[in-house]
Amino acid sequence: MVHDDSNQPLPLTPPLKRHATLQPLSREHMGGLIQARSLRQAADLDRASRVLAIDGFLDAWRSEIRAHFDDEERLLLPLVRSSTLRNRLLHEHADLRRLAERCEREPEAAASDKELVRELGVKLHDHIRWEEREFFETVQRDHPEELAALASEAAFIESHRPGSRARHNLSVDDAMPEAGK
Ligand SMILES: [Fe+2]
Ligand SMILES: [Fe+2]
Repeated sequence: MVHDDSNQPLPLTPPLKRHATLQPLSREHMGGLIQARSLRQAADLDRASRVLAIDGFLDAWRSEIRAHFDDEERLLLPLVRSSTLRNRLLHEHADLRRLAERCEREPEAAASDKELVRELGVKLHDHIRWEEREFFETVQRDHPEELAALASEAAFIESHRPGSRARHNLSVDDAMPEAGK
C-alpha cells in the first residue's frame, strides 16, 4: 500500500519504544525517510532537482543504507520465523537494490525518468514504515533475549555509521533544510 504523507513532519525518534539493539537501525530509518521524501518531491520538479535528489540518495546508499540492508538480513532474519515477514523484507530489499543499482549505473538516465525517481522514493518510504510498524515490532516482541545478545553488533553499527547514533537538539530544519519548500 502506498502512503503519501510527504507533507507531514518527519518523526525525529522512532514512534514506538525500541529495543536497545534495534535503536541504531531505527535511527538510520530517519535518514532513509529524508532521502525518500527528497526523491518523491523531486519526481515532480525539474530534472536538475532530480539530479540532486539522486546524488543525495546515492551518497546515503553507499555510506549507510546498503550496509543497513545487509545488517538487517544478517542479524534479524535468523530470528524471524514468519515466512511472510522474511519474504517481504527480502523482496523489498531486492527491489530497492535493483532501483539503486539503476541509479548508480545510469544516473543521467535515472534523473530523466521521473517515474523511476518516484518509485524509488515511494518504495523506500513504504519499506521503512513497514519495518518500524511491523517487522521491528515483531522482532522485539518475540525475541528480546536474542536481540540483547546482539548488543555488540549494535555498538559496532553505531561506531561505524554516523546516522545510527543518537542525535540531540536536532530539528527537522537541521536534518532537512529544504523541508519547508
Ligand atoms: Fe530494510
Ligand atoms: Fe531498515
